[in-house]
This record gives sequence, C-alpha cells and structure tokens, in this order.
Amino acid sequence: METIQWSEKFSVGVEKLDQQHQQIIKMLNRLISTPEAKDTHSETISDILTAMTQYSLEHFKTEESLMKMHAYPDLEEHRQEHIAYRKKAIDFSTATTLGVESVPQILVTYLLDWWTHHILEEDMKYKPFFTKKGVR
Ligand SMILES: [Fe+2]
Ligand SMILES: [Fe+2]
Repeated sequence: METIQWSEKFSVGVEKLDQQHQQIIKMLNRLISTPEAKDTHSETISDILTAMTQYSLEHFKTEESLMKMHAYPDLEEHRQEHIAYRKKAIDFSTATTLGVESVPQILVTYLLDWWTHHILEEDMKYKPFFTKKGVR
C-alpha cells in the first residue's frame, strides 16, 4: 500500500489543524509501512494504533473547541463524524491489543479511507467559515 503525502490540497487553512492532520498522516504512514502491520499479534501495530487513537481524540477536541469558540453552525453534524470514528477506532484498538482482530490490512485501509475522506470532504467544509472569521 502506498503512503500518503501531505500537500496543499489537504490544507484546511488553520495552521494548528493542518499540523495535527500532518501528524495523523505521519502515523497513518507508519501503519502502512510497518511490516509488522501484517502481524495480528504484533505489539507494534497496537502501539501505533493506540497512539494514533489518542492523538486523533486530541485533534477532535481541538477542532471542536475551535468550532464552538466561533459558533460554527454545523458543529453537531461534524461531531457525529468524530464520535463514529472514535467508536470504531477504540474497537480496532481493543481488538489488536487482544490479538483478536485478524484483518489488520482492512483496518489500515479503513483508517486511510476514513482520514482522507474526512479531511478532504468533511473538514474542508469549515475552511471557508474559518477563513471568513480570520482564523488561521
Ligand atoms: Fe474533523
Ligand atoms: Fe480534522
């Protein structure tokens, strides 16, 4: 599987959020390029996954509080997306820690698809809003 390269097309126009997205992409790339990612019982994949889940939750918090601070009208809708991810990520995380999950490749594909879709489609929706508010 190919790693992803952060480029301007991923930019949501807010520096702090771009930095966090870059970090998430870095973690995704680690998952993609870790050979042990194929090993169900590997500690490596569950370690990366746990770290990534924690980091993602931090990121959601930052994003949502920025939305709240500026009264973004679609905060609730956006929050639902984050909640759905959170549930899924915690399930994955638990499964790999327990060594129950037997399809890490599917997991990596899921995470990759989710994040590229989320940043490029969902997060991108707030870009014009924050730009108009002067948030950088
Ligand atoms: Fe988001
Ligand atoms: Fe985001």
